[in-house]
Amino acid sequence: MSISWNDDLSVNVQKIDEQHKELINKINELFDACKEGKGGTAINDIVKFLEKYVVFHFSTEEQYMQVYNYPDIETHRKEHKYFLETFNKIKEDHLSKNEMLLATFKLNDLLIKWLINHIRKTDKAIGDFLRNIKT
Ligand SMILES: [Fe+2]
Repeated sequence: MSISWNDDLSVNVQKIDEQHKELINKINELFDACKEGKGGTAINDIVKFLEKYVVFHFSTEEQYMQVYNYPDIETHRKEHKYFLETFNKIKEDHLSKNEMLLATFKLNDLLIKWLINHIRKTDKAIGDFLRNIKT
């Protein structure tokens, strides 16, 4: 299952939107690699990229929240922490043991359900907050 970008996912902060698009592209690459039955190397490479990029992306959002004294920063940070812990657990439990099918299934679930939900609710709230203080 792949994800396509649409305006419904925009948080109205250009830099964050661009990073979300980059994430979605990589997630789609991961699913394509699995669908095409590519070996562990392709999947491991994409996962390596994703884990670095996600950390970079979360820190971008957290910087925005800090700079503008966003009130819900702690709740937002907790969601990021949950994602990283779950992501690492899948790596440890399955990828490290070469259980590609199980790893992909669980990553699929986390990336699509968590990310889309998080963008739609939690990240959008940053955009709404910034719009309100700037107008
Ligand atoms: Fe976020």
